[in-house]
Amino acid sequence: MNRRGPVIAIDGPSGVGKSTISRIIARRLGFRYIDTGAMYRAFAVAAHDEGVDVDDEDALERFCERVEFRFGDEGERIFLNGRDYTDRIREPSAGKLASIVSTRRKVREFLVELQRRIARDGCVVMEGRDIGTVVFPDAEVKIYLDASSRARAERRYTQLAPSNAVRAVEDVAREIEERDERDRNRPHSPLKKADDAVHIDTTELGIREVEERIMEIVEERLAGGGTDS
Ligand code: DC
Repeated sequence: MNRRGPVIAIDGPSGVGKSTISRIIARRLGFRYIDTGAMYRAFAVAAHDEGVDVDDEDALERFCERVEFRFGDEGERIFLNGRDYTDRIREPSAGKLASIVSTRRKVREFLVELQRRIARDGCVVMEGRDIGTVVFPDAEVKIYLDASSRARAERRYTQLAPSNAVRAVEDVAREIEERDERDRNRPHSPLKKADDAVHIDTTELGIREVEERIMEIVEERLAGGGTDS
């Protein structure tokens, strides 16, 4: 692939902190930040609004033909067919819908193609589940973030708590485990670490420590060296 700049691929399961860390890394490098989960979420919510049957591959394919994505505010806002989905995709139901819709082959083919086009010039930090394995198997830097499901549930709970006071951390943990199960076991592009990705277990790490670790890896890889760990 002929790119003008590098691609930093950051993959990992739900609630591991990919978005927070990817934004920070993008800002430090002056790169674009692309949240592919937001694309699956917006696609799923819009399809649901339009009554598209997620079990009907033909209906999903027709829907793909009508979909146009746009990003605003440095990748922070997402528009689908001109409508702003930024807030709606953060509702818990959107995560579940996205996890279901993203198991469909047609949807994945469509969004992967779009993600490659959006990032074709490089200089991007792209986060998701299959960036290092499928979207950009030739990414210059691949990071796989992980953490125990309990730690991820607690982080997600803290994030959601102000708007979601009635939910218990156990409910959040159950949802995370359900999503992990679906994301890891789907037949098309399941969540898994690319062989050449660097695995970082963040269970016991603070955000600054993760940031510094990733920046070390980025500097090492972009300088032309670096081996797997
Ligand atoms: O990262 P997230 O929680 O916003 O992602 C929502 C869902 O979208 C997730 O459960 C699986 C799916 N997804 C995917 O299949 N591939 C990606 N590259 C990103 C997200």
